[in-house]
Amino acid sequence: MTAKSGSRLSRREFVKFVTLLLGSIMGAVVGLPIIGYLIGPAVKTQKLDDWIPLGKLTDYPVGAPALFTFTRARVNGWEKTSNSYGVYVWRKSETDLVVFSNVCTHLSCRVAWHTDAQEYICPCHDGRYDIEGNVTKGPPPRPLDRYEYKVEDGIIIMRLLA
Ligand code: FES
Repeated sequence: MTAKSGSRLSRREFVKFVTLLLGSIMGAVVGLPIIGYLIGPAVKTQKLDDWIPLGKLTDYPVGAPALFTFTRARVNGWEKTSNSYGVYVWRKSETDLVVFSNVCTHLSCRVAWHTDAQEYICPCHDGRYDIEGNVTKGPPPRPLDRYEYKVEDGIIIMRLLA
């Protein structure tokens, strides 16, 4: 075998170059999907709000608040969590309604509607709210939160903020 002459590649340099080139291509083919899989969830954007169907308007009685519960799964990077929600739908009349959160504004216990007392009562510190969600007794600092809603084709749909 002769030494290299001028600017021509020797056989050894050519094999080295081709091996390096093929190794780089194979590394990219195998490595890029793995990198995408690993960092993909962290760079995904998450929806900030959702519209949740609460069922037919006519299924809710006029006058008394009715509880509706549901669970939502949320993905945050690699973490997936499920949260339970409860809302009270209060039909004030045939056409007017309010959708309340059932989370107490004091320390986030779940309030329950008591028909006999005509109040939402919090079991943790006996906080109480009237049917409009206003505080009537106890430590809650503000009324129950209300959700935005709309009625489409007879179905109540509420907006759940992230
Ligand atoms: S958490 Fe409801 S009154 Fe304290």
